[in-house]
Amino acid sequence: MGAMNKVWVMNRHTDSALSDDNLVLKEFPLEEPAPGQIRVKSMYLSLDPTNKVWLAPYFTYVPPLPIGAPMRGFIIGVVDKSNAAGYAAGDHVYGLMTWGEYCNIDPTQTSYMMKLPKDDSVPLETWISALTMNGQTAYYGLLVKGRPKAGETVLISGAAGATGLITGQIAKIAGTRVVGIAGGAEKCRSLVEDYGFDAAIDYKNENVIEAIARTCPNGIDIYFDNIGGEILDAGLTNLAIGARVVICGGIADYGNLGDPSKQHGIKNYFALLMKRATMEGFVIFDFVGSLEHAKCERSLMQWYKEGRLKYRSHVVDGLEKAFPSLSLLFTGGNTGKLIVQISKDVK
Ligand SMILES: NC(=O)c1ccc[n+]([C@@H]2O[C@H](COP(=O)([O-])OP(=O)(O)OC[C@H]3O[C@@H](n4cnc5c(N)ncnc54)[C@H](OP(=O)(O)O)[C@@H]3O)[C@@H](O)[C@H]2O)c1
Repeated sequence: MGAMNKVWVMNRHTDSALSDDNLVLKEFPLEEPAPGQIRVKSMYLSLDPTNKVWLAPYFTYVPPLPIGAPMRGFIIGVVDKSNAAGYAAGDHVYGLMTWGEYCNIDPTQTSYMMKLPKDDSVPLETWISALTMNGQTAYYGLLVKGRPKAGETVLISGAAGATGLITGQIAKIAGTRVVGIAGGAEKCRSLVEDYGFDAAIDYKNENVIEAIARTCPNGIDIYFDNIGGEILDAGLTNLAIGARVVICGGIADYGNLGDPSKQHGIKNYFALLMKRATMEGFVIFDFVGSLEHAKCERSLMQWYKEGRLKYRSHVVDGLEKAFPSLSLLFTGGNTGKLIVQISKDVK
């Protein structure tokens, strides 16, 4: 038998709770890349809350995956064979590929693909945890949508996660006062002591509305919301005049995607009127290829090299554990960026 390729494929759609059989791990013969394609050997897979959204049977902000199709995901890997101009074996690439050991892909036909500069001082784990999708999301959401000014107050929900940690540090670089919301005393301690947040709110053990009023006495100028639900509503009670509410994610309700009647919804929306506030959602794909993109990549790298952008990875070992580990994101079981190491043969 020739070489094989293990891949997680769509088995049963869901727009409510995850179950063990939504994805199944299958083995296929390893295929040669077609003309124009590269074959990428996966090193790390990024596990993201939006993977849950991608299991829906209908168009969300991406098309649904057909039954039997490989699960899509953000991969960092090494080009193993190339039939594409501009790519050679050994190049490091990052982009939207599939949950498998190998992926054949035409780099010009995917919405998100970048060749990583060879820089031995930046490990692949750093790229996938801080300098690519999550770092870029933090950058665009905060700086482009939030438009921070020095001295303003930024509130971040889901602050101890992959996106939240980077957002908070960029907000500090922008000269703002930063308050994070996270679950549990240890995550809150770490936000302040390890990542320079000015204050942290433990939503599992505190009254969030009271804690926001206490920690944001002048009101919230930017609310970078990763969570939605009751935590979003709590933040709306203490907006400053002209606040910008940036909707990055709504993980609290990703299990109720198909049934809006079960979603918490926004109850305090009058705050937007009273405080002349705006609320705007965004998706990272909107910015890829934009004029700002090169600046975003340069800034993240510079801040990282200056020691101003720290990250934490939560590494799961082995492709087999990919789908069973996704639920960690929904229980807060992850500490920092959740990634799966698929191959240890990191070059
Ligand atoms: N707009 C975009 O383009 C874009 C791009 C990337 C990510 N996102 C969104 O950003 C958010 C964060 O993603 P991430 O990848 O950085 O994940 P993450 O923050 O590393 O992990 C998710 C965290 O969410 C918290 N959480 C889960 N369920 C919750 C609930 N019901 N109530 C309160 N907190 C809950 C948990 O932290 P605790 O331990 O603190 O509870 C968990 O660790 C997600 O909503 C995601 O969809 C959006």
